[in-house]
Amino acid sequence: MIITIDGPSGTGKSTVAKKVAEKLGFTYFDTGAMFRTIAYGILINRIDYTNHELLTHFLQTAELSLKIHQNKIHFYLNCVDVTDHLRTAEVTSLSSKISTIKAIRDKLSQLQRDLVKGISAVFEGRDMGTVIFPNAETKIFLTAEPTVRAKRRYNELVAKDVTFAQTHSFEKTLQDIQERDERDENREIAPLKAAKDAHLIDTSNLSIDEVVERIIFLVKS
Ligand code: DC
Repeated sequence: MIITIDGPSGTGKSTVAKKVAEKLGFTYFDTGAMFRTIAYGILINRIDYTNHELLTHFLQTAELSLKIHQNKIHFYLNCVDVTDHLRTAEVTSLSSKISTIKAIRDKLSQLQRDLVKGISAVFEGRDMGTVIFPNAETKIFLTAEPTVRAKRRYNELVAKDVTFAQTHSFEKTLQDIQERDERDENREIAPLKAAKDAHLIDTSNLSIDEVVERIIFLVKS
């Protein structure tokens, strides 16, 4: 069985998807982290991703794999665990930019479809219900007001690094989120949008547990 959870950042998607998977005993896959892994590889290898030949060579030689350690999925690029490098502002911004490139989406689509063979899973991303798993049993699309999403993201970043507040304003976080939404929603291939048969949940005024409960109810019914 496949459950897809799509939506923009700051809707609580990752936390919700992880909890839903835990409650149902399913495997959880964060597909945004796969785009982030490729973005990280492009950054550290200083690849000019606008150069088709260089990008093609990088994609052909970059081996992306996932392993579970102590209940947490780790992302590997050419056998190196890069999980702790995927949440920087640079990787966040580049992952959105490179997610518009067909060759990158093709590579990751293949990996995502291969992962599901023989297991029940929760896939979280932007195009899981529309493009990757159009036949998923339950599709969820999470939304929330942009200011609510930016506030959540800002608080999350400050909680991780107290110096963040000294260098970044809330307005900048809101602007970054709006730019990323704009790019994710308007790209030509697999844009961020709800599948026609997705259940829409606005998380602006809901706690994580309330959203999880709603999804479990939808899955069971
Ligand atoms: O969910 P996230 O913030 O970790 O995702 C990082 C970027 O990856 C996001 O800006 C868009 C892209 N992405 C995508 O295009 N398709 C997915 N299924 C998941 C993420």
